Amino acid sequence: MTRVLVVFAHPCGESFSSALKQVVVERLTARGWQVDLCDLYAESFDPVLGAAERRGYHDTATNTAPVQTYVDRLRAAEALVFVYPVWNFGFPAILKGYFDRVFLPGVSFTLENGLVAPALTHIRKLAVVTSYGATPLRAFLAGNPPRKMFTRVIRFICRPDRLRYLALYDMNRVTDGRRRAFLARVAAEMDRL
Ligand SMILES: Cc1cc2nc3c(=O)[nH]c(=O)nc-3n(C[C@H](O)[C@H](O)[C@H](O)COP(=O)(O)O)c2cc1C
Repeated sequence: MTRVLVVFAHPCGESFSSALKQVVVERLTARGWQVDLCDLYAESFDPVLGAAERRGYHDTATNTAPVQTYVDRLRAAEALVFVYPVWNFGFPAILKGYFDRVFLPGVSFTLENGLVAPALTHIRKLAVVTSYGATPLRAFLAGNPPRKMFTRVIRFICRPDRLRYLALYDMNRVTDGRRRAFLARVAAEMDRL
C-alpha cells in the first residue's frame, strides 16, 4: 500500500483549492493508498522559523526536534501531493514556512562539502495541484516561480519517477465548465499517479 502525504494550504473550506484537495484525497483513498492529509491551516502549523531554529538549522542531530511529527510524516511518505493556490507568484506563507521549517538539512537534502545532495529519494511520486489568477502567459512572463520550485528544486531533492504539475490558470475569468473539467483532470491524474 503506497503511503502518500497530501500537504494542503488554504484557509477556506468553500474554496476551489479545498474542492481540489477533496478530489485528491478521495481518489487516492479509492486506489487503496494510505493517505495522510496534512491540512496546514487546520493543524495551525506555525510557519515562522525563529532565531533558535535558524541557529540550530544545520545541526542535523537536533534540528528536527521543533517539527518532529512533520518530519516523521514526510519521512514515512512514498508519494507527495501539494494542493495550494498561487499567491504573489509563490506559496501561501503557511506553505512557505512548511518548506522553511520541515525541509531541513538531513531531511530533504544533505550538505556534502558544501554541496546539496538529495535526501527525499524515498518519494517516488510527486504531484502539485494548484491554481492561478493569472493567465499562462502572465505567469510565464513573471517567471512562474512556484512552478520552478517544483520542477527544478524539489524535483532535484526527490528525483521522483513521476512528477505531475497540474495547474488551472486564469481563475478570475474561468467558467464553471473549465473548473469542473480541471477537477475531472485532477481525479484522472490521481488515478494514475
Ligand atoms: C493574497 C493573494 C495573492 C494572489 N497572488 C496571485 C499571483 O501572484 N498570481 C496569480 O496568478 N494569482 C494570484 N492570486 C489569485 C489566486 O491564485 C486565486 O485566487 C486562486 O487560485 C483561487 O483559488 P481559491 O478559490 O482556492 O482561493 C492571489 C490571490 C490572493 C488571495
